[in-house]
Amino acid sequence: MKTAQLVQTSLEFLTDRFPIEKMNVNSLVRTKEVPVHRMSWAYYLGGLALFLFLVQLVTGLMLMFYYEPTVSDAHASVERITEHIGGGALVRNLHTWSASAMIFAVVVHMLTAFAMKAFAKPREITWVSGVLLLLITFAFGFTGYLLPWHQIAVNATKVGLQSIEEAGAYLPGAMSAWPGALKELIQGEASVGQATLSRFYAIHVMVLPLAFFGVLSLHLLSVQLHGMSQGVDRPTGRTERFFPFFILKDAWLWGVVFLVLFVVALCLPFEAFFSYPLFEAYDAMGSTPDGIKPEWYFYFIYYPLELLPFWVIMLAQNAAIAVLLAAPWIFRKTSRRALGVITVAVATYLVVMTVFGQQIYEMFKGGA
Ligand code: HEM
Repeated sequence: MKTAQLVQTSLEFLTDRFPIEKMNVNSLVRTKEVPVHRMSWAYYLGGLALFLFLVQLVTGLMLMFYYEPTVSDAHASVERITEHIGGGALVRNLHTWSASAMIFAVVVHMLTAFAMKAFAKPREITWVSGVLLLLITFAFGFTGYLLPWHQIAVNATKVGLQSIEEAGAYLPGAMSAWPGALKELIQGEASVGQATLSRFYAIHVMVLPLAFFGVLSLHLLSVQLHGMSQGVDRPTGRTERFFPFFILKDAWLWGVVFLVLFVVALCLPFEAFFSYPLFEAYDAMGSTPDGIKPEWYFYFIYYPLELLPFWVIMLAQNAAIAVLLAAPWIFRKTSRRALGVITVAVATYLVVMTVFGQQIYEMFKGGA
């Protein structure tokens, strides 16, 4: 009886979220309207993230023609792409700049969707699939960082993987072995080496894109089925046709963003901001260089990890992911005003840790 009820409730939930009668071009595209109000700009962010993902896909495919995923040749192949292949430096710079831009767009998209309560019924699946896309996007960044096989990349990956294993110390009984086993599964051998590079490469160019496409299809289907959320407490009642008006503005924005990315990638190698020699190939016998850091978009977790006990961060990170996944149910009754306050607090934390993380670290560790 209980099982039958559960199946019935689940089926009702799914038919409400994926109404078959709306699965036609008319409902999905032609009659779709986008609300017009002071937060309307936020409706462009998901499309922007999607466009940047496409830039990643095209530039990533181009890089694959020349990149060699072996510990003996990876670094040299990246150097060859940058210095000897026509347009190679531009494509590589585009790939790295656009990766950062995509992370930025996805995070702002999530924050605005949260503040506008766009996760509320019937958009729970849109939200949960969005959280999965966010995690996949970060996984793209983590796996991509190792591929050039330079000193910083390999050492930072070692630190990252080590932190997975350390989590075992805080788990009870047989579970304490799980994080170590997971680390070995990802790493593929006793230390970061060829097996790790092969796995990271396969994950970066095959597993994550396939997962992204699958989850993105679900995300976009549910966005189109339910239309855009009202987003504000006092809707103006004014709307704009999605097709052709909104989508044209989307395309215009993509064009401007691509132009900016193109000029930046042409003039400014991504590495220009690093004080250490990024082109030094990894040397297993060499000393670990100073200043090993992950990419800027991991600072929000990296600096707290350096300052606070490991278990505190692990607990906070897992709790944050659980709260994000369950947000449509946890914040079901929360007002947009309160959601706005939470969003500003989270955004402030992210900005402060990303921009001033190093200073905060030095303040507490006395410049160590
Ligand atoms: C790379 C990742 C992502 C892509 C490509 C993407 C794409 C999109 C697109 C194209 C839309 C419709 C336009 C818009 O509202 O901006 C949308 C809407 C939405 N997305 Fe995402 N998204 C991504 C990540 C996320 C994340 C991380 C979340 C939240 C955890 C999220 C939650 C939502 C919600 C709730 C809506 C509906 C907005 C509304 O109805 O007002 N998305 N997404």
